Amino acid sequence: MIETAAPEASASALAAGAALDPAEFRAIAAILHEEARIRLPESKVTLVHSRLSRRLRDHGLGHFRDYVALVRRDAAERAVMVEALTTNHTHFFREQHHFDHLRTHVLPTLRQRAEAGQPVRIWSAGCSTGEEVYSIAMTLAEAGPDTGWLSRGHVKLLATDIAPQAVAAVARGVYDETAVRPIPPAHRARWLHAEGAEHRIADELRALVTARPLNLFADWPMRQQYDAIFCRNVMIYFDDTAKAELEARLVGLLRPGGHLYIGHSERLIGPATAAMRSVAQTAYVKEAA
Ligand SMILES: C[S@@+](CC[C@H](N)C(=O)[O-])C[C@H]1O[C@@H](n2cnc3c(N)ncnc32)[C@H](O)[C@@H]1O
Repeated sequence: MIETAAPEASASALAAGAALDPAEFRAIAAILHEEARIRLPESKVTLVHSRLSRRLRDHGLGHFRDYVALVRRDAAERAVMVEALTTNHTHFFREQHHFDHLRTHVLPTLRQRAEAGQPVRIWSAGCSTGEEVYSIAMTLAEAGPDTGWLSRGHVKLLATDIAPQAVAAVARGVYDETAVRPIPPAHRARWLHAEGAEHRIADELRALVTARPLNLFADWPMRQQYDAIFCRNVMIYFDDTAKAELEARLVGLLRPGGHLYIGHSERLIGPATAAMRSVAQTAYVKEAA
């Protein structure tokens, strides 16, 4: 249960905003690392202060030490804190070369597999608000004017993130004008429907996507193998031990011949390197065993 008003928090302390001292910052960083394996360098102290000050106000707390105590004992507030400290920046067709690679080198096989009634699975791991997974969906639809192969239930796109509000935005599939700007005009015309001043992704594409909250360092419920995994601009927040562990698990979930796409400033380390062959910029294929 989330607790509220701490009696000692005076109105003036709340108005002034609590100070965040180095020990409190380190305590918050340790909790975030334990929960999500996200590293918080000392340079992020201002960011932590500004993102969490609102939580202190909401709970009527005048000191960060009280907030640290609260997140230590309250799992729900810990989850809110983790979400508040994640960086959800994303956009449609980010790192376009991955979508070009998917379309040119992977899509023909995926289509054949789906047309043969075989499952096709793609995972956007650390999906933020969904721009990545819908860019994948639009790219798959580029296989030709007949998109029937996509909608017969063989193709499934999974989008997961640790931040529940981001996941809820994926499920809604509604974006403002600024967000949809990077979408090529042909896709906009075909896959976006005006909803007031905003744009809703067409049902046909939304139906392909399942959006779920998932901590990448928790147990994964998925049992099937994936044809492609996009885990981009997520591992930058983790230390090398966490990266190596996560990459090994991602590779374990790929079927032989499956592709892994990582962010432009990321690299493969640890056991994953032996199992994967580089096929394009930050794109890898899983070698047959
Ligand atoms: C910068 S966004 C990247 C979004 C998208 N993949 C892209 O490249 O545009 C990073 C996402 O990773 C998520 N994330 C960070 N740590 C995570 C964890 N331990 N488990 C799951 N998601 C995590 C964040 O919530 C955030 O939405």
